[in-house]
Amino acid sequence: MGYSTWLLFAIAQALATVALAQTFPNTTYPNATVPGNEGLNNAYSPPKYPSPWMDGSGGWDQAYVKAQAFVRQLTLLEKVNLTTGVGWEGGPCVGNVGSVPRLGFEGLCMQDSPLGIRFADFVSAFPAGGTVAAAWDRGLWYERGYQMGMEFRGKGVDVQLGPVVGPLGRSPAGGRNWEGYSPDPVLSGIAVAETIKGIQAAGVVATTKHYIMNEQEHFRQVGESVGYGFNITETLSSNVADKAMHELYLWPFADAVRAGTGAIMCSYQQINNSYGCANSYTLNYLLKGELGFQGFVMSDWQAQHAGVSTALAGMDMAMPGDVLFNTYTSYWGPNMTVAVLNGTLPEWRLDDMVTRIMAAFYLVGRDTARVPVNFNSWSTDTFGYQNAYARQNYGLINQHVDVRGEHTRSIRTAAARSTVLLKNVGSTLPLSGMEKFTGIFGEDAEDSKYGPNGCPDHGCSNGTVAMGWGSGTSSFPFLVSPLTAIQNELVQNGRVVQSVTDNYAYNYIAALGRQVDTAIVFVNSDSGEGFINVDGNIGDRNNLTLWNNGETLIQNVTAVCNNTIVVIHSTGPVTIGSWNENPNVTAILWAGLPGEQSGNSIADVLYGRVNPAGKLPFTLGRDRADYGSDLLYEPNNGENAPQDNFEEGVFIDYRAFDRAGIKPVYEFGYGLSYTTYNYSDIQVQKHSVGEYTPTTGQTGSAPVLGNYSTDVNDYQWPANLTYVTSYIYPYLNSTDLATASNSSDYGSEDFLPPGARDSSPQPRIAAGGGPGGNPLLYDVMFTVTCTVTNTGDRDGEEIPQLYLSLGGEDNPKVVLRTFARLSINKGMSATFVADVTRRDLSNWDTTTQNWYISEHPKTVYVGPTSRNLPLSAPLDI
Ligand SMILES: *[C@@H]1O[C@H](CO)[C@@H](O)[C@H](O)[C@H]1NC(C)=O
Ligand SMILES: *[C@@H]1O[C@H](CO)[C@@H](O)[C@H](O)[C@H]1NC(C)=O
Ligand SMILES: *[C@@H]1O[C@H](CO)[C@@H](O)[C@H](O)[C@H]1NC(C)=O
Ligand SMILES: *[C@@H]1O[C@H](CO)[C@@H](O)[C@H](O)[C@H]1NC(C)=O
Ligand SMILES: *[C@@H]1O[C@H](CO)[C@@H](O)[C@H](O)[C@H]1NC(C)=O
Ligand SMILES: *[C@@H]1O[C@H](CO)[C@@H](O)[C@H](O)[C@H]1NC(C)=O
Ligand SMILES: *[C@@H]1O[C@H](CO)[C@@H](O)[C@H](O)[C@H]1NC(C)=O
Ligand SMILES: *[C@@H]1O[C@H](CO)[C@@H](O)[C@H](O)[C@H]1NC(C)=O
Ligand SMILES: *[C@@H]1O[C@H](CO)[C@@H](O)[C@H](O)[C@H]1NC(C)=O
Ligand SMILES: *[C@@H]1O[C@H](CO)[C@@H](O)[C@H](O)[C@H]1NC(C)=O
Repeated sequence: MGYSTWLLFAIAQALATVALAQTFPNTTYPNATVPGNEGLNNAYSPPKYPSPWMDGSGGWDQAYVKAQAFVRQLTLLEKVNLTTGVGWEGGPCVGNVGSVPRLGFEGLCMQDSPLGIRFADFVSAFPAGGTVAAAWDRGLWYERGYQMGMEFRGKGVDVQLGPVVGPLGRSPAGGRNWEGYSPDPVLSGIAVAETIKGIQAAGVVATTKHYIMNEQEHFRQVGESVGYGFNITETLSSNVADKAMHELYLWPFADAVRAGTGAIMCSYQQINNSYGCANSYTLNYLLKGELGFQGFVMSDWQAQHAGVSTALAGMDMAMPGDVLFNTYTSYWGPNMTVAVLNGTLPEWRLDDMVTRIMAAFYLVGRDTARVPVNFNSWSTDTFGYQNAYARQNYGLINQHVDVRGEHTRSIRTAAARSTVLLKNVGSTLPLSGMEKFTGIFGEDAEDSKYGPNGCPDHGCSNGTVAMGWGSGTSSFPFLVSPLTAIQNELVQNGRVVQSVTDNYAYNYIAALGRQVDTAIVFVNSDSGEGFINVDGNIGDRNNLTLWNNGETLIQNVTAVCNNTIVVIHSTGPVTIGSWNENPNVTAILWAGLPGEQSGNSIADVLYGRVNPAGKLPFTLGRDRADYGSDLLYEPNNGENAPQDNFEEGVFIDYRAFDRAGIKPVYEFGYGLSYTTYNYSDIQVQKHSVGEYTPTTGQTGSAPVLGNYSTDVNDYQWPANLTYVTSYIYPYLNSTDLATASNSSDYGSEDFLPPGARDSSPQPRIAAGGGPGGNPLLYDVMFTVTCTVTNTGDRDGEEIPQLYLSLGGEDNPKVVLRTFARLSINKGMSATFVADVTRRDLSNWDTTTQNWYISEHPKTVYVGPTSRNLPLSAPLDI
């Protein structure tokens, strides 16, 4: 290029640099304790407009065509109806949008949760996401997703509110971490993708949530925070730099988009001081722009705090539709009708919202899979009010359809396959079932005296813990306790088995402990969603120790019994360093949150019907402080939004331990088997792939589907409408738009960001271009193979893990990139074959706003855990 062109180019570059520096924090934080890393405080999220309109790319073409054909037929009121919920407890599901009676189209039903159906009977309680993550098993994840999807389908649900990859699990005490998978973005990304494919193959739309950086419960909502004693006026802001956003938090969402997730739920808290459901940077730019998301964004329940601006920032569906629960007013609904009529909200944006919603519907085949909703979330009675809040339309509300099929078998297997064996002295395990006298200890072994669904939303910790608490739960059809299962097993074998389940009955514990030859102690730790406080834990855990006196229970049993097996049910990491090396603790199992078959699943492992192969999906550290990043329990910004600075960047969980050189109790990826394995013969095959090129060019212009009357009279409440009181309808109660809107700031266009209404072609994003980002990121650059041999005397399964060192100082020592679960019979070998993609080798460049492969030497490692990596090879890029 010539001198003047070069000069212009240089100036443009400089301007671009300045623009970037001013827009999104790009600082990398090599060490959070280094002064100067407080730069994230009051981080700013730049405006990004207009909201990208869907174009049917990435496998959505047929759904797009069908959706457009549908939307073209709709009137403005009908379009508004499909975007806005009818209000809290208005319809049968936890979320319901309006219908299109003219076309015989029932409104959509959105229902919790990520592990099964909440608020319904005759449904299954699957193991939690954070538990099945420990199976490292793509097939299991897919099957669990498919079976959940079939249950939602059978109840008439259109949209399942799951799976979860936000929280990712930045801090181990995060209350809802167990709803997601793992603090490792790759493990989470593969798990979420398989789950989505399973759910959607069953004909139900999956909702990946909560987008994004929803890493703690404290201060996620203002009302809730005031309720537990903190006067704040805005919710917490998770402040993150660009690099950690891309390399860590956005990563599994990219996998979700690539897997075709039909919906994404935006989160309660702010991201860089902009609300999750009004954040044009995260919704318009990252999600719909860079990741090419084609489906719809729905708000979390009450996470919407504005009207037109949320629509322009990329939100497509308001849930549950009212401003706050049961206010009978809406930011959308009539306000949306008004906003189109007064020209503030462009028609193309509304059309895009509805097209995205309907495209997700067609993508998963709901046009053929749909049955009418046959349950009601707000009552277990057979007859009752269809509109619970309004107490209107009495009739048959619960048909009690049993949708469980044979799922309980896979649930039992899935939980057993997810169980992690942490310690096994000699051959303590498996037990033969012929032990002369077995003692079972701990409240966690038994049934809750209030029944498995006794406490609303499982918001208590009584009896065995098989699920956390909050909206991420389902109803148990039954809950097989460990005590029941183990007792059945041993009684059948003619053995002696007794239990003490009061953790404080020291004398009885000691008396039984002294007599037994085998003690099995059950301990737990629980957590959940912030609207429920259990024993002072406001969703998030206050500590990482065991609940209900667990440590003392173990101490009491081990004091009198030299063969003590400990089983942990927990929502995440617990600190076990005070007792794991006790020689009388002869075996330890982490069983997570196993769901309805809890007891049978653990019995299958204890008695050797299943050879454990699970691996820890997180690090078990000695001290809470070793994790490096923690939760914010006290507001730190007066009454303004608490500032939660993710100063550790990408260094969470094992990456933090590795960086600080801290030895954990059991590392990420760790897990034993009843047999042993040997790793050998690593081979690297290089593939020739083209250069990585940025995506260029422009989109088309925004389509407008159909036209609408501009006569305000056409939008008034219809005469003779039989309406549900308290329902959000799209109609206006005045021909004066300002009166119909009833907004105190009506007419103010201050919130309209430049370009937000622009429907002209837009530049494509360099790192975008396909679902999950630039398609070239997914080029396979290397294939790595090695041999894994079963050197023990039992058939088993092993999970070889592939890690990369990306070399640079600001990179973790190693990062997980892929894995496989191989079935290997005793004495046999299997070949582990793993692809390494360009994305796997890349870092995020904050200047070019794209991925790049650095100059640093790259090394591949393979082994059975994140710290036991016997095989390695350099990668010649
Ligand atoms: C909007 O949805 C409601 C509730 O389902 C329905 O009663 C109403 O007729 C719908 N309005 C239009 C214009 O379709
Ligand atoms: C919280 O704010 C409310 C309203 O501003 C005020 O009445 C109350 O005293 C405040 N409480 C505390 C603990 O500051
Ligand atoms: C329109 O939105 C405003 C908040 O922006 C709300 O106060 C008002 O009640 C809404 N109007 C209707 C009719 O729901
Ligand atoms: C049940 O759980 C609640 C909340 O954790 C606790 O306060 C109560 O003591 C428990 N009840 C029993 C009988 O353990
Ligand atoms: C940790 O929290 C649990 C649940 O609230 C409680 O039972 C336990 O006593 C706490 N541990 C410590 C060491 O305070
Ligand atoms: C059991 O624990 C309690 C409380 O720490 C203690 O007082 C008691 O001595 C222990 N019993 C045994 C046998 O260790
Ligand atoms: C436990 O103690 C008994 C009796 O001293 C002994 O026979 C047995 O081998 C010990 N078991 C273990 C696992 O150390
Ligand atoms: C952070 O930097 C300080 C000062 O350079 C050093 O002492 C400390 O060990 C570092 N911490 C970690 C976790 O790397
Ligand atoms: C148009 O209507 C919306 C929704 O009620 C309102 O927020 C906005 O202020 C109005 N704009 C104008 C220019 O009247
Ligand atoms: C942040 O971005 C600016 C502008 O692109 C660049 O000059 C600076 O080096 C970046 N800082 C880091 C730490 O990446």
